[in-house]
Amino acid sequence: MSKSTDELFKNVISHAKEYGFVFPSSEIYDGLSAVYDYGQNGAELKNNIKTYWWKAMVQMNENIVGIDSAIFMHPKIWKASGHVDGFSDPMIDNKDSKKRYRADQLLEDKIERYSKDGKTDKAEKLQADMDAALNAEDLPRLRELIIEHEIACPVSGTRNWTEVRQFNLMFSTQMGAVADDADTIYLRPETAQGIFVNYLNVQKSGRMKIPFGIAQIGKAFRNEVIARQFIIRMREFEQMEMQFFVRPGTQKEWFDKWKEARLKWHLALGTDEAKYRYHEHTKLAHYADAAYDIEFEFPFGFKEVEGIHSRTNFDLSQHEKFSGKKMQYFDPEVDPETGKPYGNYVPYVIETSIGLDRMFLLTMINAYEEEDLSTDEKQDSRTVLRLHPCLAPVKAAIFPLTKKDGLPEKAREIMDKLKIDFNIQYEEKDAIGKRYRRQDAIGTPFCITVDHQTLEDNTVTIRHRDSMAQERVAADQLDKIIGDLVSW
Ligand code: GAP
Repeated sequence: MSKSTDELFKNVISHAKEYGFVFPSSEIYDGLSAVYDYGQNGAELKNNIKTYWWKAMVQMNENIVGIDSAIFMHPKIWKASGHVDGFSDPMIDNKDSKKRYRADQLLEDKIERYSKDGKTDKAEKLQADMDAALNAEDLPRLRELIIEHEIACPVSGTRNWTEVRQFNLMFSTQMGAVADDADTIYLRPETAQGIFVNYLNVQKSGRMKIPFGIAQIGKAFRNEVIARQFIIRMREFEQMEMQFFVRPGTQKEWFDKWKEARLKWHLALGTDEAKYRYHEHTKLAHYADAAYDIEFEFPFGFKEVEGIHSRTNFDLSQHEKFSGKKMQYFDPEVDPETGKPYGNYVPYVIETSIGLDRMFLLTMINAYEEEDLSTDEKQDSRTVLRLHPCLAPVKAAIFPLTKKDGLPEKAREIMDKLKIDFNIQYEEKDAIGKRYRRQDAIGTPFCITVDHQTLEDNTVTIRHRDSMAQERVAADQLDKIIGDLVSW
């Protein structure tokens, strides 16, 4: 990371805290690693991102519906899905520092180091060796590579490593009073399984016809060993997932459609296209027949924000096997080739899965600007969040010019009308210029000032965040002016 991008990222993190977007969790107890709380502005921004996603996926598609399934699920679900046996990372401990690391991460850091030092051959060779070991799940080989490449513990500086072991990422807890293995349940590591096990409930109660989708937003939990890069990798996070159920044989066509549609969703917020790229998975999970990530260029490099996966009929077939219940759909449509209905089958699934917290960070980083406003006469600057107005936590701030002459009462009267439709903030403290700066820092698109002229002709000044231009408008036009910019 170059110094300037490193600095930019640090500034965004401290801005997020200073202005009530993201706080370290349990801060007065020195925090809890990889867990964060969203503050007053963060909660609004997060809700707005959720709304944008929900509207695009559920409201705009008549064949997609949304659900809200429980976090706790029957433990057999995680056996069926493969998470109990396979959802793990290869871990290695340093015997001196007693610190635990992901073996593949240590190797990746080394590959990055080789590349930075211009040792491209070494980087490529290690990448290939690591991929081969990971593919073969050859844990001793991963350890050998760590030793061969003289990787030292970042804390102790020694190379005194343990064996590599698989470490399951699911959090478990006990249900009911008896601490017995049979009562062990898991905090879901993805929301998707809540959709799979409900797909027939939704299909039947909603009379859904294939192709159709089920969407969900909710918390997921993973005992990540490396907590990195602020809210990029958390132990408690939120996903927005959609499972699209299709006729076998049509999955490629739907995969391509969703891959394109999801990138469009990102770009519709006005983000520079060059900041995004697709990353194709060459190493596919055993159940997938295609997978792409949508990556965004964060200050520390391109990182996955969303995954689009063609999951075949793996999950539904597994649930059929483990639950003993039929997971088939009856397709009455006639196959033109055979002239007969397609009949019973287990649908194939295309999944779109986006991390809400990563989307939140992407949005903050993209919007954050330290703008130089200096003129020949004086030095000046502001920090502004150029958020899309739909996503801005506060849509308009309303300021009485002074605290007297009936201006606060008039300002509150205007606010009371606007707050029915929009999240509005009232501020009367400090000079107007300072109030503008505070609103710029949280991305408020409009500031409305009520002055003495307002009392005479019911007009106000409205100041636009991005251009900082001001205009005089009738107070009863505000609803429309704000609405035009912030409505979806
Ligand atoms: N159901 C598929 C699934 O869960 P995934 O690639 O493991 O796929 C999907 O996760 C998305 O969830 C990722 O693209 C990422 O944005 C987000 N995500 C995954 N682990 C995360 C973590 N520890 N912290 C924050 N977001 C995470």
